Amino acid sequence: MASRILTHIKQLLNTREDSSPLFGDALSRLPRIDDAYLLVEGDEIAGYGKMSSLKKDHAQLPSEQEDCSGKLVLPCWCDSHTHLVFAGYRENEFVDRIRGLSYSEIHARGGGILNTVRKVNETSEDELFLESWKRLEEVAALGTGAIEIKSGYGLTVDTELKMLRVIKKLKERSPLSIRSTFLGAHTYPTAYRENHEGYIQLIIREMLPEIAKEKLADFIDVFCEKGFFSPEETETILRAGLAYGLKPKLHCNQLNSIGGIETGIKLDALSLDHLEVISEDDNQRLRNSGWKGICTLLPSSAFFLGIPLPQARKLIRAGCSVAIASDYNPGSSPSGNMNLVVSMSCLQMNLSPEEAVNAATINGAFAMGLGKSCGSISIGKQANLIVTRAIPSLAFMPYAFGSNHIDKVMIRGQFLSQ
Ligand code: NIG
Ligand code: FE
Repeated sequence: MASRILTHIKQLLNTREDSSPLFGDALSRLPRIDDAYLLVEGDEIAGYGKMSSLKKDHAQLPSEQEDCSGKLVLPCWCDSHTHLVFAGYRENEFVDRIRGLSYSEIHARGGGILNTVRKVNETSEDELFLESWKRLEEVAALGTGAIEIKSGYGLTVDTELKMLRVIKKLKERSPLSIRSTFLGAHTYPTAYRENHEGYIQLIIREMLPEIAKEKLADFIDVFCEKGFFSPEETETILRAGLAYGLKPKLHCNQLNSIGGIETGIKLDALSLDHLEVISEDDNQRLRNSGWKGICTLLPSSAFFLGIPLPQARKLIRAGCSVAIASDYNPGSSPSGNMNLVVSMSCLQMNLSPEEAVNAATINGAFAMGLGKSCGSISIGKQANLIVTRAIPSLAFMPYAFGSNHIDKVMIRGQFLSQ
């Protein structure tokens, strides 16, 4: 088994002996070792510690050595909420919004998500795979080592399956750890605009059985929002997914608080995502319900739509487990750059750099059920590493937000070619 060692690491960040999601205050503690080494065997982390104890810890060193003087090493980003499989872009709507139209108005006129739905329906599976593969390579070079990808731009049986098959192919061919989420309930397709019950039955009777048969999804998601899916419709769809073993993740409280949080907690969702708009009742519920899922915040999406960012501090004070993710999609976050997401979390949601790194690594990993294999520097976890350029400190990464601070990215023990 090939092994290699990274030596003289200025700071090795997020070293953990045991892995669990971080709630409330625990988010602010980011364990680290100064002047450290890290040993990789095959695709796994095999050891780490202080340089001063290297000789004592390991009598024989691998010949492949990488001097990391002046550099920081941290686990790769775990981006737990994306719509990376899509076709075409929507920069025209971006210009419409600059001129004053809102995201909801664009949707009500038949644009928005439905615009991408049309394009994805017209694009072949092979083309969709190639477009998505390029985006996956792009985010890997930016330090993402694990990623969740949703369907939801098909909205017909065939095209939802096409999207999920593309995600499956990405899983098979990419070294990244990928989790797949069925989001057939992203919006009502035009053909079912006046027949919501009909579309819900299509999801339940035709899409879900086929998805389960081909094992195409790990999770199920619904966009619970005014003008999209009501809490009652959300519950019906998520329960149907649960019957096939698909744990729920929700888009909720993005534009309005209509009961998505309550529904998600009731069904023990793995994560509640967005949460830009939270009522006092919602906050009490998150504080008191005993729910142990993850609140996934998507700052680049709120920033791009020009809506207030989620109140991360309030959630952390309420004892929640917060993750941050990119929401990479053509309508509300045409960027999968997690470095930017980390910066925005610090600048616009007042997370400390330590909290932001925890939210983007270990908590992100748990938000997609990958907490045992990704998200921290722990023996036996995948060797998914960001090696920075020589920088003064961790805070410099989110602070100098416009620069690329990444020197190299390792996924499963292999450096990506630059
Ligand atoms: O997470 N809010 C719903 N879905 C996506 C946006 C999808 C789109 O506009 O294409 C989101 O923001
Ligand atoms: Fe989303």
